[in-house]
Amino acid sequence: RTDGAADYYDLAQRAADLEILPGLTTRIRGYDGSFPGPTIQARSGRRTVVRVSNGLDAPTVTHLHGGHTPPESDGYPTDLVQPGTRRDHTFPLDQRAATLWYHDHRMDYTGPQVWNGLAGFFLVGDAEEEALPLPAGERDIPLMICDRSFAADGSMHYPGFADRPGVREPYMGGVLGDVILVNGAPWPELRVARARYRLRLLNASNARAYELSLSPGGTIVQIGSDGGLLTAPKPLSRLRLAPAERADVIVDFSAHRVGDHVELRNLAGEGPQARVMRFLVDRAEKDDSAIPRTLSVVERLDPAKARMTRDFEFTSGSLHGGTGWLINGRPYAPGRIEARPRLGDVEIWRLTSDVAHPVHLHLAHFQVLSVNGERQAGPPEWKDTVELRDAQTVEIITRFTGYRGRYVMHCHNLEHEDMAMMADFEVV
Ligand code: C2O
Ligand code: CU
Ligand code: CU
Repeated sequence: RTDGAADYYDLAQRAADLEILPGLTTRIRGYDGSFPGPTIQARSGRRTVVRVSNGLDAPTVTHLHGGHTPPESDGYPTDLVQPGTRRDHTFPLDQRAATLWYHDHRMDYTGPQVWNGLAGFFLVGDAEEEALPLPAGERDIPLMICDRSFAADGSMHYPGFADRPGVREPYMGGVLGDVILVNGAPWPELRVARARYRLRLLNASNARAYELSLSPGGTIVQIGSDGGLLTAPKPLSRLRLAPAERADVIVDFSAHRVGDHVELRNLAGEGPQARVMRFLVDRAEKDDSAIPRTLSVVERLDPAKARMTRDFEFTSGSLHGGTGWLINGRPYAPGRIEARPRLGDVEIWRLTSDVAHPVHLHLAHFQVLSVNGERQAGPPEWKDTVELRDAQTVEIITRFTGYRGRYVMHCHNLEHEDMAMMADFEVV
């Protein structure tokens, strides 16, 4: 529904029985009973209201990942929507075009609730992007990549909780599935023309990172990241995607002949976890698209303008008498504010890790300044999630704009998040 003031969407969270594996039934708990949830196509600057109705048997919280969102609509982890109730989220979308996604964010339960189906795409478009000759329409395809495991009867198998809230020691590394799904289907095939396609890749896995590449060879041209268009196209032979990261890429199938198969493979996986999806080039078609040499202008945030540098250590530590994942040695406690940046200020946040952690900030998109002390060369790009590899120090720089209030930063390995690797910050 739309009126002069806003665009309105209804998302009804409910269970549904789907055929994900051939011949078997899988009960998912998703938005509108679909997995992934419906793709919302929104417009930069256009107020968008999403009404989430909870028809499940457990409380939920919905967060727009990458959204520049006022705090009351951001999906704070204890803003529970109880079964049988609903909540309106208002997104002013005062932000550039980008591939965002929405997903559950309930404290201590995000891992299982996303696993069971609560995730979908939210695409923001704007005039700047539409003016570019990029592939569009049927040749602009969002691809949600995630791993799941299934029991023999087809049900989605999420390893159970330990009896202490938040603590799941056997799953310290996070929960991995053995079947890779793309838009909810295992090893799917997409029929494509001999033409350029824009693929919006999202890693919606709880804990798995991918190294994507094309087989039998071919270039992936990255044009966008978490926070929208890059300044210039970046040709890659492989693309790493940690949980929650997005990459907008162009793949040119005109390099292939009709009848050819092209596979998207995961070099970080073996056997079935190495297969993501395949494309069958099945026709010739006219293609007016192009990849412009200049895509956008991205302001480079200047470290000399930073008001301060804050340190955050992402490490394991003791939690409820067991082991959990902590930030600066503390488990998540809603309401305990770990940082109070001022509205409008530029700050540097220095993040360090013991093992790999994909770190995500709500509200504020950022730029990566340095990795292990080495300044990042190359043009600036807007990110909302950065993967710290083992024992790394990554400095990010950001400016807190738009809204005052309380937000979270956390590890986007969802089991790490549920095992308390999250912190509140408040923009004041
Ligand atoms: Cu995609 Cu706070 O999460
Ligand atoms: Cu987020
Ligand atoms: Cu982590």
